[in-house]
Amino acid sequence: MGPDVDGGAARDVVSINDLPDGLVVAGADQRVVQVNRRAVSLLLLDPDTAVGSHLSAVVRLDDLGGRTWYDCLRPYDGLSTRSGLVEGSWYRSDGRELLVTARLVREGRGRPVTTVSVSIRTVGTRVRLDRDRSDLVATVAHELRSPLTAVKGFTATLLSKWDRFSDQQRRLMLETVHADADRLARLITELLDTARIDAGRLTLRAAPLDVAEIVDRVVGSAKMAGGRRMRVLPHESLPVVWGDADKLSQVVTNLIDNAQRHGKGRIDVAVGAEAAADGSPGVFLLVDDEGDGVPDEMRDRAFTRFWRSGVRDGSGLGLYIVRGLVEAHAGEVTILDSASGGARVRVWVPVAEPAVLTD
Ligand SMILES: Nc1ncnc2c1ncn2[C@@H]1O[C@H](COP(=O)(O)OP(=O)(O)O)[C@@H](O)[C@H]1O
Ligand SMILES: [Mg+2]
Repeated sequence: MGPDVDGGAARDVVSINDLPDGLVVAGADQRVVQVNRRAVSLLLLDPDTAVGSHLSAVVRLDDLGGRTWYDCLRPYDGLSTRSGLVEGSWYRSDGRELLVTARLVREGRGRPVTTVSVSIRTVGTRVRLDRDRSDLVATVAHELRSPLTAVKGFTATLLSKWDRFSDQQRRLMLETVHADADRLARLITELLDTARIDAGRLTLRAAPLDVAEIVDRVVGSAKMAGGRRMRVLPHESLPVVWGDADKLSQVVTNLIDNAQRHGKGRIDVAVGAEAAADGSPGVFLLVDDEGDGVPDEMRDRAFTRFWRSGVRDGSGLGLYIVRGLVEAHAGEVTILDSASGGARVRVWVPVAEPAVLTD
């Protein structure tokens, strides 16, 4: 016999299984006492073990930074006047977004929580699109504001207190302003690329090119800019690829930049010829580092707009753009493990001039 997924008391009125939303109820000991069928399917639960499990093991959802719902919201701790948790977006391990809210029941004001009832629903497409759009505007505004705040702060200080600073201090402030202005310019370029990719309006100037040459050039200039130990591994000469040299340089630049900022140790870049599963010839590129790599469950998310973790000084748009550019070449990009356990990012592009390319 399975557990009482149905729950007892509510059956007279309406079965909790008839509710449109998922429902999980946990008692004072933080153990789950009831789940309905919708929750079982939305949270991918094993109905035989969900009841009796700890609430944190049943509501296994993360935010985009990989923090769990339970650890973020601590339903049993926190303000003793808190009576509910506002609805928020949480993600299943497969990336599916769910809206989660909860009521916290207490025996009296300021008393410990005795019951947590969690409600889970899916996000309607329409709502999601609208929200994505306004989220995007908010995110973009926020990203642009932080460097601008620094620019504004330093220029204001310099203008009002010019005489109080030494030449060296003024220079230091101007250098900061200069770096922030660069960051803003970079961000705007990335946002424009992102918008083009989103709208499917990326135009490639395709010409026959040598991927190894592009790699050598990018690695050379990264080294010149004082980059960490990096090398291009020896390789055979590559077949000519039809592609956009600027866009492919941008791909390599982004991956090396990531390996430098998010990885550690030496950076190895490898190129070679390799056919796809269907036999179509192509060229691959591997960028390996010796850092911590990207955890398995984050690999899909790393390609979403604005997603970033760890060192957060970037925009989180890099890999999104990389994928957009690679896919415009009818290629593909994946995150794997390097031999040292660091990140390996693999890009593959076909040799033949794909139909999607325009000149
Ligand atoms: N070589 C790498 N090693 C470890 N983590 C990485 C690596 N490359 C990317 N990541 C992870 O993927 C996230 C997204 O990368 P990206 O889209 O380029 O954004 P950004 O570099 O601006 O943070 C990074 O914030 C980082 O957490
Ligand atoms: Mg990046």
